[in-house]
Amino acid sequence: MNSNSNQLPAPGTHPELSTAGVGPWPGSEADWPTEPWYDPELLANGDSRNVVDRYRYWRMEAIKADLDQTRHSFHVAIENWQHDMNIGSIVRSANAFGADTVHIVGRKRWNKRGAMVTDRYQHVVHHENVAALTSWAAAEGLPIIAIDNVPGCVPMETFDWPERCVMLFGQEGPGLTNEAIAAAEAVVEITQYGSTRSINASAAAAVAMYSWVNQRSAHVPGAADR
Ligand SMILES: C[S@@+](CC[C@H](N)C(=O)[O-])C[C@H]1O[C@@H](n2cnc3c(N)ncnc32)[C@H](O)[C@@H]1O
Repeated sequence: MNSNSNQLPAPGTHPELSTAGVGPWPGSEADWPTEPWYDPELLANGDSRNVVDRYRYWRMEAIKADLDQTRHSFHVAIENWQHDMNIGSIVRSANAFGADTVHIVGRKRWNKRGAMVTDRYQHVVHHENVAALTSWAAAEGLPIIAIDNVPGCVPMETFDWPERCVMLFGQEGPGLTNEAIAAAEAVVEITQYGSTRSINASAAAAVAMYSWVNQRSAHVPGAADR
């Protein structure tokens, strides 16, 4: 839909220059860019949204459409029985790492606080329970990979991520339900070295997504050949 499509940054340093946002587009209205993805209101008033520099002044739908062209082939699912406040942070990380879709399993309402409105640029789908997620994933041919440190797990450091998959995370406290673990093709743990039983679910999700990207992303040179 636009000339910027598919120009994702390659690994390297990518400092963001507009942390506090940007003011109105310099000059008069005659100087505004005319490409359809620019939002006249943002050009006129400035853009203080939580978006990377390359999307400054872009319409929200145009950003989402552009992201749709480069999303990775992993999905992220999280069990939501207690309104876990990690879910918002997981959605934010899913956006950052280019996840295809986030799946909320259980309660439909989820705690959006940590998402920092990134959910607007992300596909978020609800499933009533693990059985519903499982039948959707089976129809899509997507294996479910449970992420937890429970008996039978394998270390993420040596795990071969499937190219297409659903990563399934549990909640603070109980962790993944037995039903969720039973639905998984593999259970993968992040090795820890301290005294705490586990890390926070959103931290675990960020580590897992980073691990998948490092191993599988077409945007990481040589990743797919490792
Ligand atoms: C706070 S943990 C609780 C469960 C954990 N099994 C326990 O015994 O304490 C919540 C969720 O974070 C994720 N998680 C936390 N630490 C992890 C680790 N070291 N490896 C894999 N997943 C982890 C899992 O998805 C887990 O269900």
